[in-house]
Amino acid sequence: MRRIGKFEWKIVLALLLTAAAPLLFTAIMVDRLVGESMSVGVNDRVLDALRQSVDLYKEVIETRLRLARTQILALADDEAFLKAVQKGAFDEVREPLRELLQTPAIQRVRLLRKDSVLVEEERKPPPDPAGVKSRSDVFDLPGGERIEAVLVIARSFLEGADSLRELVVTLESFQTNFQPWKLAYYRVFLFIYFWILLMAVVLGYLLARSVTRRVAQLVSATRRATTGDLAVRVPVRGRDEIGSLAESFNRMLDEIQRTRDRIVYLEKVSSWQEIARRLAHEIKNPLTPIQLAMQELHKSYRGEDSSFTAKLDQSLEIVEEEVATLRRMVETFSEFAKLPDVQTIPVELNEFAADFLRKNPQFASRVSLQPLRERLEIRLDPMLMGRVLMNLVNNALDASPGGEPVEIRVGREGEFGVLQVADRGVGLSEEARGRLFQPYFTTKAHGTGLGLAIVKKIVLQHGGEIFARDNPPRGTVFCVRLRAGSTPPANA
Ligand SMILES: Nc1ncnc2c1ncn2[C@@H]1O[C@H](COP(=O)(O)OP(=O)(O)OP(=O)(O)O)[C@@H](O)[C@H]1O
Ligand SMILES: [Mg+2]
Repeated sequence: MRRIGKFEWKIVLALLLTAAAPLLFTAIMVDRLVGESMSVGVNDRVLDALRQSVDLYKEVIETRLRLARTQILALADDEAFLKAVQKGAFDEVREPLRELLQTPAIQRVRLLRKDSVLVEEERKPPPDPAGVKSRSDVFDLPGGERIEAVLVIARSFLEGADSLRELVVTLESFQTNFQPWKLAYYRVFLFIYFWILLMAVVLGYLLARSVTRRVAQLVSATRRATTGDLAVRVPVRGRDEIGSLAESFNRMLDEIQRTRDRIVYLEKVSSWQEIARRLAHEIKNPLTPIQLAMQELHKSYRGEDSSFTAKLDQSLEIVEEEVATLRRMVETFSEFAKLPDVQTIPVELNEFAADFLRKNPQFASRVSLQPLRERLEIRLDPMLMGRVLMNLVNNALDASPGGEPVEIRVGREGEFGVLQVADRGVGLSEEARGRLFQPYFTTKAHGTGLGLAIVKKIVLQHGGEIFARDNPPRGTVFCVRLRAGSTPPANA
């Protein structure tokens, strides 16, 4: 497994801290708050006060009932009242009975004779049965009569007492269970806390890895590039800073590789030019003596042998032909060896291409121009760039034995001006594709294989680039790209 890098550790730690600190702080605060409110809300003093309130309720209810009973018993003991009852003067009992209703808990009183016949009844206006709880009490009088009383207690009173009692029970159980509950909550909290922290770590790691993996790719690509591997590239992922860094890195390597290829090619071409110069020199010198010697031999034969004369004629012809070919080659070699330095001037690209065709009327029937719609000024050496076009057009015509038309196209690609020579000819063979710009590579009987080497050297000296591609469905396009408006690099 890959080692976790320092940067990853830092991000993981930062996320862990960000997750852990506020949670821990909140947990401590909540714990303290709960503890505080417990000590304020549920303590022994509060519970005692509540218990006393319950007792007070009970007391009040009982006192009310007791008062009612005492009042009735007092009447049952009252001599005047008893006398009136004995006498049967029931008119006189009405008043004391009515007075009993002054006591809050007494709802109704009845006086009944010995034979249970109702003598007198006094009552308050009937209360809402749902709002009270009532009970009957009977008080016997000495003469066998009875007082029946209905006593009521307001239900809200009783309910008040009940709910207070329930509250006390709840609080008592809360107080005894608080510690175990607290522990249970702690356990749940710790469980959730653990998972949150774990998630923070995993998330932090994944986040860090997505960043560091790309940075690591950049680092290793840079290392490889410094050891000379300029083919290395990093994948461009994401639109963030690392993505654009990767893009710039790749672009930089493209540029370095192009520059290095250019330098390598120009160095190679220089040594080939030296070889060409020597070859031209070595071949050129014996050509005239060979030709003169052969002419001398031809002239000096005075014999009669007609077959020998014919052979001599034929030999002279062959030698002269081959010497002429060798002269042409020597010319091309010296031309290649003595390529002049580039002298650039600002030139309008359309005009330059049109001028080339005007100066070479031999191409008029087969080569056409497709100009760019805008004006595009480029610094170039018209004489050398004319040689580039000349070589490319000649190659295109050579590759089109059926007389197919050739096109010179002027174009623009961003900051580059483009000159293309497109044909509908035989196309590039696999071998030609790999060796096009190598000097002395030719597939032609009388070719020198120097045309494209000269072309490439001139283009590179202009700071441009050249490449060939297919021209579907048939043929080849040679593209020369020249930076618009920039000064070409110093001559190599
Ligand atoms: N337009 C083209 N279509 C197909 N093949 C091409 C084309 N241009 C060049 N080639 C191939 O590339 C080879 C090298 O071309 P280059 O111009 O360097 O030399 P050459 O044309 O053979 O010789 P010279 O330029 O001296 O006449 C050619 O022999 C040919 O095989
Ligand atoms: Mg050629």
